[in-house]
Amino acid sequence: MNRRESILREMGLGPSWQLRDRPAEAVAAPAAATEMPPQQAPVSADDRAALIAKMDWDQLKAAVADCRACALCKARKQAVLGVGDIEADWLFIGEGPGAEEDERGEPFVGQAGKLLDAMLDAIGLKRGDNVYIGNAVKCRPPSNRTPEPEETATCWPFLQRQIELIKPKLIIALGRPAAQTLLQSEVKISSSRGRLFDYQGTPVAVTYHPAYLLRNLPDKARAWEDLCFIRFQGSGSRIQ
Ligand code: URA
Repeated sequence: MNRRESILREMGLGPSWQLRDRPAEAVAAPAAATEMPPQQAPVSADDRAALIAKMDWDQLKAAVADCRACALCKARKQAVLGVGDIEADWLFIGEGPGAEEDERGEPFVGQAGKLLDAMLDAIGLKRGDNVYIGNAVKCRPPSNRTPEPEETATCWPFLQRQIELIKPKLIIALGRPAAQTLLQSEVKISSSRGRLFDYQGTPVAVTYHPAYLLRNLPDKARAWEDLCFIRFQGSGSRIQ
């Protein structure tokens, strides 16, 4: 196996060779591409990131669905890539799937998702309509804990590729893990609100995570201020 094949296979994108006389049900079964063959060469994080950086949407979907790069894959039902308009001007990034998202394969479909939809509605936006919603990590952290830094770091190339493919006009980080992932630095929400940061030329705004707002109702007024700020960023440009 050459180096490229080895990398592809590690990412779950390798060819799934089958014997010609295998029964139909065995052929239809999921490929064993996600299981590491014993002779497999280790793939560096840089090689993996370089490969992800060249993927189109179909390859990205397949790679995320089959990813075994961190321990979060062990307890997930499915990986959750994201939802919405893949040419959206508005990109909202949360932390990671919860139980309902893990079940349904779509981000923000539980209680926090209902609040996010209401927040979008408040500024005239709608899930799927010039809006894309994703997460810093694609697999549910057990017991909905905050993802570990190594987990967000391992998943980061997937989010980077999503951003490159979508080319949003504004990225909105929902909560600290999303903000820290996007800005690759320590971030405090309280001191980052109402400011614009930069991710490779794309402006990034930071606000509270909807799940946090469900537990901290007084901060909803601040979130409303943030939404007005976010909406205002779009009012002078194409994102209206
Ligand atoms: N919280 C998140 O950060 N993302 C989801 O998809 C759901 C809840």
